[in-house]
Amino acid sequence: MSKSGTPLIEVRGLKVYFPVRKGLFGKKGIVKAVDGVDLKIFEGDIITLVGESGCGKTTLGKTIAGLLKPTEGSILFKGKDVSKLSKKEYSEYRRSIQIVHQDPYASLNPTKTVFQILSYPLIKWGLARRGSELEERVRELLTLVGLTPPEEFMRKYPHQLSGGQRQRVAIARAISVHPRLIVADEPITMIDVSLRLGILDLMLDLRKKIGTSYLFITHDFGAARYFSAKGGGRVAVMYLGKIIEMGPAEEVIQNPLHPYTKALIEAVPVPDPTISKKKRMPKLRSLDIPSPLNPPSGCKFHTRCIHYMEICSKKEPPLIEAKPGHYVACWLYEGRG
Ligand SMILES: Nc1ncnc2c1ncn2[C@@H]1O[C@H](COP(=O)(O)OP(=O)(O)OP(=O)(O)O)[C@@H](O)[C@H]1O
Ligand SMILES: [Mg+2]
Repeated sequence: MSKSGTPLIEVRGLKVYFPVRKGLFGKKGIVKAVDGVDLKIFEGDIITLVGESGCGKTTLGKTIAGLLKPTEGSILFKGKDVSKLSKKEYSEYRRSIQIVHQDPYASLNPTKTVFQILSYPLIKWGLARRGSELEERVRELLTLVGLTPPEEFMRKYPHQLSGGQRQRVAIARAISVHPRLIVADEPITMIDVSLRLGILDLMLDLRKKIGTSYLFITHDFGAARYFSAKGGGRVAVMYLGKIIEMGPAEEVIQNPLHPYTKALIEAVPVPDPTISKKKRMPKLRSLDIPSPLNPPSGCKFHTRCIHYMEICSKKEPPLIEAKPGHYVACWLYEGRG
């Protein structure tokens, strides 16, 4: 990795498993939602995490933010294992990592006004005193996320806002506590297509203004391409619980190495998330995503890979640095690391 120093967040050998039962009396199984992820996130980083539905993106994001506990492995905050932080350090960690969820309808309390929604974290974390200071801060936050005039939006309830406006309130709430990292989990998926780019632009604009880092999670390579083309940073591609490719955004998009990344990119005809739905059929042996309850042996992608070789079903390929800063887990690149 090119960056040095202590990462803001380090994910080490992370596994997050969920015990499940098929049907009421069915067999017990384990969903390996995250199955061995290593990742360093530095101050100011932009990481776009992309992968199909169910590959473990949300689980990884939630575990990074402290909402889920690792089954194995660890999350380090500024070099310290979060399970070993003092109460004060843990509280700083939780404040420093904020999540913006996919569904702005579910994430905002419908019985509270925008003012109440934004006041709560400010009071909770002692960042503003009630009265004029609090009002001033809420006004500032609303202006930052483009909800102006702020006085008008402060009085509104979530149902009086559009999806895009609600997501802006959720973003304002996330930045209100001065986080160092925002985990934006599919922040545009449930928003009207015409408003999507506005939200991505807002996030990038905020990064310039307040300097947070982002873990931007998306299943849509068009959105990933837009976000990382404007914001730079790194792209990480996830498949069934693992990161199978990661590198500088430009490099991964222009010169993808993993057959899965290549298929994802080919499926996006234009770099515009608003029209990425018109997908071409990607080059895959099979379009079905295997179940994380019963993942394929060896390389988990081998059942769909057009470059399938014998070793692929037998042995899992390690994530190797095939080019400077560009990592891939695929037997095609064996010996290049
Ligand atoms: N609490 C849970 N209990 C059981 N299984 C779970 C739980 N949370 C997630 N899973 C399973 O873990 C796998 C990964 O889920 P996750 O939500 O992390 O994927 P995702 O990449 O965010 O998908 P999506 O694009 O649909 O949001 C899925 O198979 C999902 O069904
Ligand atoms: Mg998800």
